[in-house]
Amino acid sequence: MSAGDVSAAIAIDIEAFQPSEIGAGREDPRVLRDQQLREEIARPWARVRVARRGDAVVGYALVWHVVDEVHLLNVAVAASERRRGVARALMDDLLAYARDKGVARILLEVRASNAPAISLYEAFGFTRFSVRERYYADGEDAIEMSLGVAG
Ligand SMILES: CC(C)(COP(=O)(O)OP(=O)(O)OC[C@H]1O[C@@H](n2cnc3c(N)ncnc32)[C@H](O)[C@@H]1OP(=O)(O)O)[C@@H](O)C(=O)NCCC(=O)NCCS
Repeated sequence: MSAGDVSAAIAIDIEAFQPSEIGAGREDPRVLRDQQLREEIARPWARVRVARRGDAVVGYALVWHVVDEVHLLNVAVAASERRRGVARALMDDLLAYARDKGVARILLEVRASNAPAISLYEAFGFTRFSVRERYYADGEDAIEMSLGVAG
């Protein structure tokens, strides 16, 4: 993701998440998300990859890579582009990166009610290993999932 892609990623997130899920209280979630994504791009341990259809950014994935673990923080696809394999392409890209870099496992948290995302992760072989009760600000549980990466 380059700085020029940030506005498209913000639009995808605004469509996909409630302001509180982005962390916004009274502030404008677009302004907050802009700040968050620019901070992520600048972090040496963050990797933000976009999926494009033509010139348009239609999805993106944000991970942190620390030593031999990757933490998947977000994968989001524009609502009009869903169920067309965009997230699958982003996950394939992530797995290729993880194998190339000798990553041992990929970890993530997902809202217990987020059936599309849980299905996506299970389709890639992620398994549930824990539940963090009331992990999210609105009281929803997080399911923790992991995937071992074969070398
Ligand atoms: C979850 C999300 C990223 C999936 O993106 P997508 O591009 O539509 O997913 P794909 O088309 O690549 O689907 C890949 C697989 O994921 C699963 N899947 C995706 N969407 C699904 C849905 N709505 N219901 C059930 N399974 C789903 C299926 O196994 C699917 O394979 P299939 O189409 O062959 O059945 C998308 O719904 C999204 O952006 N949601 C909002 C943001 C979000 O909640 N992100 C996760 C944060 S942890």
